[in-house]
Amino acid sequence: MDLMEKLAKERRLVNLEIQKTLIGKPDRIYSAARHLCLAGGKMVRPMLCMLSCEAVGGKREDGARTGAAIELMHTFTLIHDDIMDADDMRRGKPSVHKLYGVPTAILAGDLLFSKAFEICDPRAYRILARATSEICEGQELDVSFEKRTEVSEDEYMEMIRKKTGVLLEAATEAGAVVGGGKDEQVEALASFGLSIGLAFQIQDDILGVTADEEKLGKPVGSDIVRGKKNLIAINALASLKEKERKELLNLLSKKGNTDAEISRAIELFHDSGSIDYCKKKAREYIKTSDSSLQEIKDSTARKELRLIADYVVKRDL
Ligand code: IPE
Ligand code: IPE
Ligand code: MG
Ligand code: MG
Repeated sequence: MDLMEKLAKERRLVNLEIQKTLIGKPDRIYSAARHLCLAGGKMVRPMLCMLSCEAVGGKREDGARTGAAIELMHTFTLIHDDIMDADDMRRGKPSVHKLYGVPTAILAGDLLFSKAFEICDPRAYRILARATSEICEGQELDVSFEKRTEVSEDEYMEMIRKKTGVLLEAATEAGAVVGGGKDEQVEALASFGLSIGLAFQIQDDILGVTADEEKLGKPVGSDIVRGKKNLIAINALASLKEKERKELLNLLSKKGNTDAEISRAIELFHDSGSIDYCKKKAREYIKTSDSSLQEIKDSTARKELRLIADYVVKRDL
């Protein structure tokens, strides 16, 4: 049985929590918010929250509401991210701003942001608030890198820690807090969440150029069009010979690339060995996550957390 089937009950529970909170007027803003929630995300963060709650001795169901809060926060960031990245597809559907326009999309995002705090366990307020501030910082770095030609791997790692890592970290940390975990357990699970969060974003960057667009549910090649300095681009720019390096830089700087230009950039990524490099990096972070998890007593929940970590780098959507 695959992970998604195995944790179908948990995801249903989180969905119920989300649907209960997304009712109100005017209907248009709630429909816009529900549109993306109903489009069906993988719900990795709420699963992490619920399992972390159980891994420290709580009941996994007790982590569902806070897991739902984190998913709402995640969905808020996706709506705004698609405006920033000018992406028209998300979760296999037109993105919120495409369907409802930018003003309603901004508001639907803001609505999800505050609804997250309405349903989050108060013991996890600070965790969620701090993660969200860091996401904003990370997203600003991500956007600012588009215009730069030189971005170091360290700068990239800091950017993805903030834009993606901290929310997976918040999911495991909040789950452990809600489950009544001891400080050492909370810390170990937080580190676990952060490591898989870093791997998660590297895998997202890989899928952004290698996946099947239909299956992925979001545009493939969009990072190239935006000139994103993800780890693939950074590594390729550092390892290609001067002529190819210039060619890639031109492709990344250009606005509105043709399909042929996108394919050429992807070819350069493959030729430079950058995709393989990123796969290796992502696997390394999963390995690191395992040492954090070892500090938690073995249990069904711990085994399932391990399965999620493996899924992060095996997934194709
Ligand atoms: C996409 O997150 C944005 C990133 C942080 C990479 P997910 O891949 O978890 O998106 P959904 O929720 O399953 O759509
Ligand atoms: C992921 O952003 C992080 C957030 C949305 C906060 P990306 O722009 O890298 O993710 P996708 O590929 O659009 O999902
Ligand atoms: Mg994006
Ligand atoms: Mg983005």
